[in-house]
Amino acid sequence: NNKRNIRNFSIIAHIDHGKSTLADRLIEKTGMLTSRQMHSQVLDNMDLERERGITIKLKAVRLIYKAKDGEEYILNLIDTPGHVDFTYEVSRSLAACEGAILIVDATQGIEAQTLANVYLALDQDLEILPVINKIDLPSARPEEVKAEVEDIIGIDCEEAPLISAKDGTNIESVLEEIVSKVPAPQMDVDAPLKALIFDSIYDTYKGVICYIRVFEGTIKPGMEIKLMATGKTFEVVEVGVITGKHVVLDKLEAGDVGFLTASIKNVKEATVGDTITEKSNPTKEALPGYKEVIPMVYSGIYPAEGEDFNSVREALEKLQVNDAALIFEPETSVALGFGFRCGFLGLLHMEIIQERLDREFNLNIITTAPSVIYKVMKNNGEMLEIQNPSNLPPQTEIDYMEEPIVKASIMTPTDYVGTIMELCQNKRGSFINMEYLEETRVILHYELPLNEVIYDFFDALKSKTRGYASFDYELKGYVRSDLVKLDLLINAESVDAFSLIVHRDKAYERGKSITQKLVDVIPRHQFAVPIQAAVGSKIIARETIRALRKDVLAKCYGGDISRKRKLLEKQKEGKKKMRQIGSVEVPQEAFLTVLKYD
Ligand code: GTP
Repeated sequence: NNKRNIRNFSIIAHIDHGKSTLADRLIEKTGMLTSRQMHSQVLDNMDLERERGITIKLKAVRLIYKAKDGEEYILNLIDTPGHVDFTYEVSRSLAACEGAILIVDATQGIEAQTLANVYLALDQDLEILPVINKIDLPSARPEEVKAEVEDIIGIDCEEAPLISAKDGTNIESVLEEIVSKVPAPQMDVDAPLKALIFDSIYDTYKGVICYIRVFEGTIKPGMEIKLMATGKTFEVVEVGVITGKHVVLDKLEAGDVGFLTASIKNVKEATVGDTITEKSNPTKEALPGYKEVIPMVYSGIYPAEGEDFNSVREALEKLQVNDAALIFEPETSVALGFGFRCGFLGLLHMEIIQERLDREFNLNIITTAPSVIYKVMKNNGEMLEIQNPSNLPPQTEIDYMEEPIVKASIMTPTDYVGTIMELCQNKRGSFINMEYLEETRVILHYELPLNEVIYDFFDALKSKTRGYASFDYELKGYVRSDLVKLDLLINAESVDAFSLIVHRDKAYERGKSITQKLVDVIPRHQFAVPIQAAVGSKIIARETIRALRKDVLAKCYGGDISRKRKLLEKQKEGKKKMRQIGSVEVPQEAFLTVLKYD
């Protein structure tokens, strides 16, 4: 087992450029498992990931490859998540590697996340191996895309394999590139232990399983380890590698990638980015780059009508055991009763959690509008951080407010530049500059308020550019902003679950759009129901749901019993999903409506 024959690498790409498909092929080609088995067992093993076509949690697989030079190599493929919400996890898994395959779609060329991921890989000094994928497609333009990669990223593409991950064309050349170009790891096996946790997941039987890269020293079962960021100590139970299934070994050494278990109860105790060392013989310095992940987006999660508060709490607790980035605490809403304030890395992370509550726990929940963290300076000099609009102090007590701003890069064909600029303008963006990538493609740099980005920026960008533009962002900091609380009143009662913090200039537009939407989703009652939007005591928009005149059944003239029954059933079903707010019944979908853009 020659250490020189280890290669640790990741695959980086823009979403949908073929990362998972190539991973499948590499695994298949090295004879690990059939791709079908692989799919259900190795990468992407959450249903949700597969259905959404994205990779949420990263894992590592060990492949054995007999290269053309006659030697056998251990190739550790470390999977990376493919979404901007999980940038930190991507950066940690790249930190576990010496090289990265950069896969670029031959029909699309470089996209925003291609670049973002390349920068992350360069930060870690990785050897980057370009691979051009999807050459089977008639619209593929591999030579142009190669030239683009050379121009924009500045890496040599002369030897870049042209492949079809789908058809399995030229996969071997990718494996050969890995063997010949990715550097072998350093291997000081006698030094004090230094290992990086690049992922951790919770397993019902084993507790937390940490996926680790050993940089120095050796780790064995029975060893007392210390996690340097949290200071916690544990005794190692098992170490091993993943070759389709977890294979237990007697040790992992410098250069190796594998897993460890140590009766750890919660992923928060062994978080991504932490350094593991031996308690009795610690390494001097932790690995660089440890960061505590901070949620950027908050929303309320409430049990829907008929759902139990405790079941929601238990479900959130279970999810949290496996997701160090999810935070929650109890809160109450006048409109919705007892629920939780939850913090997420971003909107996608939020959607994933909501869907898991629904699918894995079969829970019906109501989510309130997502919010970012605002900084509020009070007249008395006290600075508050507010992530729930309901907690905003009265306007008279506020000196000023600040909101988070992101640096955004948008890559687009030149045809859409006008449209995108208009969109960014509309989202209170400030234009920074525009770079030409090639004659027909540019990258636009903007600063945008995060609060506009989480609202609907992705959707709007996608629909306005027919999916041709791609987008990436990072947090820049806080700036002062003229923000106000927008309240919604139903039948003259303020409904806290609908409250939003918005820019003053946007208040009217948002208020109007929400009242109009609510009129459509709230059913008519026996009395007229006014729907109003207000800033402070000032009503800025108003709609009215007219009173119901006749019994709905009156519409079903005569004796069409089945139709009548259907209608009654429909009503009953509708009932179940209603929230009573004062004397008005509000359907659950109303809460979603507020979040959606037109
Ligand atoms: P994320 O996991 O979301 O980051 O996407 P990904 O980069 O892993 O992409 P994935 O492998 O899921 O592929 C995206 C789509 O492209 C799928 O529908 C694949 O079937 C398709 N695809 C991947 N490789 C090829 C290829 O070589 N040729 C063609 N025609 N389609 C491909």
